Amino acid sequence: MSQYQENATITRYERLSQDNIRLTLQADSIAAAAKPGQFVMIRTSTAKDPLLRRPFSIHQTSTNGRIQILFKILGRGTELLAHAQEGEQLPVFGPLGHGFDIRTDRPACIVGGGMGIAPMLFLAKRISRLKSNVASDFILFGGRTRTEVEPLSDDFRQFGMRFYEATDDGSYGEKGFVTQLIQRLKPPKGSVVYACGPESMLEQLNIYCQVKGLECQVSVESVMACGMGACLGCNIPAKDGGYVHVCYEGPVFNAEELAWK
Ligand SMILES: Cc1cc2nc3c(=O)[nH]c(=O)nc-3n(C[C@H](O)[C@H](O)[C@H](O)COP(=O)(O)OP(=O)(O)OC[C@H]3O[C@@H](n4cnc5c(N)ncnc54)[C@H](O)[C@@H]3O)c2cc1C
Ligand code: FES
Repeated sequence: MSQYQENATITRYERLSQDNIRLTLQADSIAAAAKPGQFVMIRTSTAKDPLLRRPFSIHQTSTNGRIQILFKILGRGTELLAHAQEGEQLPVFGPLGHGFDIRTDRPACIVGGGMGIAPMLFLAKRISRLKSNVASDFILFGGRTRTEVEPLSDDFRQFGMRFYEATDDGSYGEKGFVTQLIQRLKPPKGSVVYACGPESMLEQLNIYCQVKGLECQVSVESVMACGMGACLGCNIPAKDGGYVHVCYEGPVFNAEELAWK
């Protein structure tokens, strides 16, 4: 798998809500090599602080050599990134990690919770390109409130998949959690659930999929220093009692491989 270090120019800056920002970056080699579920490491500042790059899922790619990231302002790195401007260059390294294993012969149920929706646009786009019929495929998107969900709705509607939204406070889409949506909608037998979101959401999806006998691929997060297997900082517990490295064995795992709380 090829990885590239690029000084990527920001070609578009979109503030989707107060805390959520989408950047489009010209990163030709990364865009050409990326697969859904992979991520990039971005140096958010040319100063010493913060020194470490930050990981971000590849939100989508385009044929003109661009990638997008979608992020929430959390701490120092993302705060700095939020002040970046169109025309600036950012050091970007990737694509990294093991992405989703797309099953074109099975119905897809794509589930994104909160910022976990970030890698799902790329995934939905790729699935809709690879499959001749997506009428049995679902996209379920949940967030805390309207401002998290509404700005991305139209992007997900374009694929012709069955698209459902929920918010915790009921301000947009159905009221409740995305895990309640899947229980109500019941994806067809043989579906593959592809999920990214908070750990509690992934854990509940794992239980649901086990009960229903569905394959469940989850994209998980951990704090990362190097992003490429050198520091061991991203280890999380595996079901067999050992550990897995999120950065190069993941971030996408079969949910059954992981030790859930
Ligand atoms: C593979 C991967 C893909 C990611 N994709 C996205 C994405 O598409 N969009 C997005 O908004 N975020 C994404 N993240 C999370 C993102 O990397 C962090 O939000 C970012 O690194 C925070 O940097 P910061 O300097 O702003 O905050 P820091 O100052 O570094 O951290 C602020 C607080 O958040 C905690 N924290 C930092 N990173 C994580 C983490 N990964 N998990 C749990 N707690 C954490 C810290 O311990 C600290 O308490 C991803 C993480 C991983 C591992
Ligand atoms: S982040 Fe360094 S080994 Fe995974």
